[in-house]
Parts: sequence; C-alpha cells; structure tokens
Amino acid sequence: MSKPIAAAPGAWLHPGFLDPAGQAVTLAALRAGIAQSPLFAPTMPRTGKPFSVRMTNFGPLGWVSDRNGYRYQPMHPVTGDPWPPIPAEIAQVWRELLPDAPPPEACLVNYYEQTAKMGLHQDRDERAFDVPVLSISLGDEARFRIGGATRDAPTRAFPLRSGDVFTFGGESRLAFHGIDRILPGTSSLLPEGGRFNLTLRRVTPA
Ligand code: SIN
Ligand code: MN
Repeated sequence: MSKPIAAAPGAWLHPGFLDPAGQAVTLAALRAGIAQSPLFAPTMPRTGKPFSVRMTNFGPLGWVSDRNGYRYQPMHPVTGDPWPPIPAEIAQVWRELLPDAPPPEACLVNYYEQTAKMGLHQDRDERAFDVPVLSISLGDEARFRIGGATRDAPTRAFPLRSGDVFTFGGESRLAFHGIDRILPGTSSLLPEGGRFNLTLRRVTPA
C-alpha cells in the first residue's frame, strides 16, 4: 500500500490498499455472496431505463432503484431473500480505514462490463451523512471523477485500480462523483474482465 492521496477535503484515495492476495480473498468472498444474491439489472426511476451496471447488495440494507425510485430495502428485489451478510474480509477494510465509524449497514456491489459507466451523482439516500462512504475497486481500472456538493462545482478525475480503496466523508460526503469509463484489459484479476466496485455505507444514524 502506498500513501493515501487527498483527492478533495475529506476524500482519500488509498492506492493498492489490498495487495494481490487481499484482492483474491476479497474476490472469493464477493463471488460467494453473489452466488447467494445474484446480480440484477436496476432501472432508472420514472423512465425505467436500465443502468449500464448490474448490482447486488450485502448487509441488512441494500440500495435498489426501479420505477418507484431509489431506496434501501432489506431484501433482494428479484429473489425476495434477505441480502447475505457483509463478508468479514470486506467489513475488515471498513474497520481498518474508519475505526471510529459505526459498522456499515450496506455493501452495494456494482459490476461494470467494459462499456459501463456511471453518471455524476450524490450518495444521499442515507440518514447518516456524518459517516464516510468507502469504496473498494477490483478488476479493470476505472476513471473516477469527483467534484463538490453542487453539480456545477469543478471536478477532478483519478484512476481507481484493482485493490484501491476510496473514502469520502466530511466536506466531501455529498460530493458529486461518477465513473467516466472502464479501461478494458488493465487487470487480470477477473477472468471475465470488467470491474467490481463495492460501496460500503452507514444508512441509519448509529
Ligand atoms: C458509485 O458511486 O456507486 C460507484 C462508484 C465506483 O464504481 O467507483
Ligand atoms: Mn455513488
């Protein structure tokens, strides 16, 4: 792991936080979770347009989006089963980087195929804005963009590579952020290619 990089006030990039062995262990836990809680294709509120990423969740609460809007709910929208617990290997990253924070309640899993992206948005469906958001990248490199709390604030782009962890809290908790694109073939971690992002969040006040 190299030194954390200050990306914005309260936002930190931890390059290579997970070494290749740590990435392999995290990926195995992720795959076991997906076997219980399969990736599904979320749709946009109102328009019903599909997202370019597929999603699932671990933990007591999972973030979903469909025609009825964005929300947290305790069960998978397709299987109706409760989300599986957040794997210990994944919760451990939160404990190491955010030792003073209450435990995460949601681990959103996004899978990006080579052409997937994510438009600039805020993470604001939680009721715990005092707790940072933590995201773990596995697989192909992504070009991540982060700005300020208003959509028109200037933005900066950072590479997120396999094993990198990004945290944003404090002044950046409500910063607009997104994924411009995936750089195919930049990691050999996933035989199928593409990228997983795991986003851990506290949803309710502790
Ligand atoms: C997100 O903001 O939901 C995902 C960010 C990422 O894929 O790194
Ligand atoms: Mn987000």
